[in-house]
Formats: sequence, structure tokens, C-alpha cells
Amino acid sequence: MSSEFFLDEKWIKKLDRQTRVISDRIGLDRKTLDEVFDKSTLLSLGKLISDKVIEYLDFPVSTGKEANIFRGVTPDKKFVAIKIYRTSNLTFKHISKYIEGDPRFICTNKTRRGIIYEWAKKEFKNLERLKKAKVRVPAPIKKINNILIMEYIGDSEKSAPLLKDVELKDPKKILDELLTFISRMYERAKLVHADLSAYNVLMYKDKPYVIDVGQGVLLEHPSSLEFLKRDIHNVVQYFSKFGIKEDEKEIFERIIKK
Ligand SMILES: Nc1ncnc2c1ncn2[C@@H]1O[C@H](COP(=O)(O)OP(=O)(O)O)[C@@H](O)[C@H]1O
Ligand SMILES: [Mg+2]
Repeated sequence: MSSEFFLDEKWIKKLDRQTRVISDRIGLDRKTLDEVFDKSTLLSLGKLISDKVIEYLDFPVSTGKEANIFRGVTPDKKFVAIKIYRTSNLTFKHISKYIEGDPRFICTNKTRRGIIYEWAKKEFKNLERLKKAKVRVPAPIKKINNILIMEYIGDSEKSAPLLKDVELKDPKKILDELLTFISRMYERAKLVHADLSAYNVLMYKDKPYVIDVGQGVLLEHPSSLEFLKRDIHNVVQYFSKFGIKEDEKEIFERIIKK
């Protein structure tokens, strides 16, 4: 037996124990557990640990349809967010329409797993572009296979709440900031988020952070303008409950004319 193989097996056992503890904590059933932490995902986590990107998985933050998010701890005791895309069928069906037609990703002749890896790469690349365009997003840290490591938004007690769950001191200010972000995405990053709403914005220290940027598309995507319209609508609509009125059409025209 080669030493490498031995190391892999050791990591698998260690991670297997760790994931069991985590799944007990969140009450994950065996099926979900197997779906998220299949052998290759455990190996990727093992690599992240041996590369000292993370030391361990600390806390489950969210169990979504496509991905599970954990808080992780680095060897120097800082928090990171760990997004693990599931490699199951469900995920695959949903994502293909956003990835097709994006010249950055080659999805022909790829296995389902290969496409999921491309998808995680897409979220990572979108985060990089958005960060550069000065849109407030979690800083991307590392991507390996179906796992994305990024800046953790929150403190030692809990992760930052979603926009939809917080009381806002100054809603107009937050709306203006989000509209500025939409505009910067379009103008500077040449991207449309395509799933922007009060469900994909975290509020931390009174500041909005845009998250979940995996389905973001380049402007050349055939539906990019339709997605842009929808993003503007979701955001403007949410703030109308605070009595703030904005002209969606006018915002849309202003952004695309830039
Ligand atoms: N960087 C982050 N820091 C803290 N919490 C996060 C971070 N990214 C995501 N979360 C939490 O995990 C949840 C799910 O993440 P998201 O990227 O929206 O995935 P999905 O909606 O596809 O499940 C979010 O609603 C948020 O509560
Ligand atoms: Mg989300």
C-alpha cells in the first residue's frame, strides 16, 4: 500500500467521523449525509485540510436544495464559509440553463460531476469579478471540485441574517446600495446576478452583502436582460413595503444605457 493511499484512507476515516458528528447536530438523515459527503467530497475536504486552508468544519449554516453551507475554522482560528455543492441529479437539472452558452465553461462531454465542478468554478469566478467591480460580496478564497471556500459573513455567535429577516434602520440607503451593486455588476463586471432578492442578501453591521452568485450570467447570455429586469423588480418590490417607490423601468433603462 502506498503512503498516499494510506493518507487518503486516514483522512476519509477522520472526515467520516467529523461529518457524522455534524450530521447528528443538524439531524441530517443518512441519505442527505451520503449525498453531501460522498467519498470524493470527503477527499476534497481532506485536501483542503492538508493544504491548511481549513482546519475543521465547525457549524452547519444552511442546508439548501443545491448546496450545504458550513462555517469552517482555519488553522489560525479564523472563520470561513464552506459551500459544498451536491453532486445529485436535482442540482444538475436546475443549473444547466444558466451554464449553457457561457463561453467561460465547457460542458460538452462532461459527466454530471464534471458539470457540478464547473458550476462551483462559475460561482468562484463570479465572486472574483464582483469583488473587483466593488460589489460587496464575500471574498473568494479557494475552490476545489464541488467545494467553494469564501469569506464568512457573521460573527462567532451566528452567521449574518438575510435581508428579508432584518429590521432596517435606513431602508432607502440599503436600496440605493443594492441598485448601485446591480449597476456595477452590469457595467463593470459585465454580469447579471439572475437570482437577486432579499433571500440572497446578507445584512452584517448594517451593510448588505450579495451572495449566491453561482447562477450569475455574462451579458452575452441570451436571457441576461430578462434576468436583469427580474433582479431589479425583486429588489424594488421588496423595498416598496417601506413605502419607497422606484420606477423599475427607468432604473433598467439607466443601467443598460451606461
Ligand atoms: N459567505 C457566507 N457567510 C455566512 N453565511 C453564508 C455565506 N454564504 C451563504 N451563507 C448562508 O447560507 C445560506 C445559503 O447560501 P446560498 O449561497 O444562498 O445557497 P443556496 O440558496 O443555493 O442554498 C444563505 O442564506 C446564508 O444564510
Ligand atoms: Mg440562496
